[in-house]
Amino acid sequence: MRKKIIAGNWKMNKTIGEGLALVEELKPLIAGKAYVEVVICPPYTALYAISQVLGGTGIGLGAQEAFWKASGAYTSQISLPMLADAGAQYVILGHSETRGRFGVPEPELTPDLLRTFGETDAGVNIKAQATLAAGLIPILCVGETLSERQRGETDDVVRAQVLGALAGIAGAAVAEKVVFAYEPVWAIGTGETCAADEADRVCGVVRHAVEMAYDQTVAEAVRIQYGGSMKPDNAADLLSRPNIDGGLIGGASLKAADFAAIVTAAG
Ligand code: 13P
Repeated sequence: MRKKIIAGNWKMNKTIGEGLALVEELKPLIAGKAYVEVVICPPYTALYAISQVLGGTGIGLGAQEAFWKASGAYTSQISLPMLADAGAQYVILGHSETRGRFGVPEPELTPDLLRTFGETDAGVNIKAQATLAAGLIPILCVGETLSERQRGETDDVVRAQVLGALAGIAGAAVAEKVVFAYEPVWAIGTGETCAADEADRVCGVVRHAVEMAYDQTVAEAVRIQYGGSMKPDNAADLLSRPNIDGGLIGGASLKAADFAAIVTAAG
């Protein structure tokens, strides 16, 4: 039985003070729900301060991105050992907003703009390896854009992202640690949720790709979240599906009551 995992991706929101206030509001609302793994992913600047108030709550702490080198002349970057030092146990990798697609109409996604963020499957892979080596849990995001979906490429895109992310990683590590998040890009921050049947089907594509790369045991062990406009009113339906093992929550993770309602829906 896979334990459900609900993670809040705060994205570029919350000062240290605001983040601490949100956590204090959240604590009583999710107390006693140890049957669900709960993770919050604040911006880097708030990680350490928030790590100091999570003791005894069972709430895990994650970062939203990482660089794969441990240290060196990499201006602006944050390493996995640094994140662990700040208290993080998880790291989101390959989010579509780091793959360079966010908020920009696709025809405007010029090569220059893509390079601004420009995450690739190879980048996700090398960062996933560094994450596991540092003892953290990678949350690997995959998902198709609207035009990829309209061209009927969803399954191929998702499968390629999964296989690319896992290259060279041992099956045992995948089974034990790796979490996937299927986030259709067109459903992120738009209020447009992927229908639960379809979200479950594509999470099944992710699981099948893991089986192709390893075997059925690894595929059955790996947890797959759905992300994209998950809210209190649609969470229970999504989270009841056989291939959906949790949620990666953006907007609704910024409100304690909404996030707690989603955690409750996972129970
Ligand atoms: P929303 O829940 O705001 O759609 O964001 C989803 C997401 O991108 C989580 O990583």
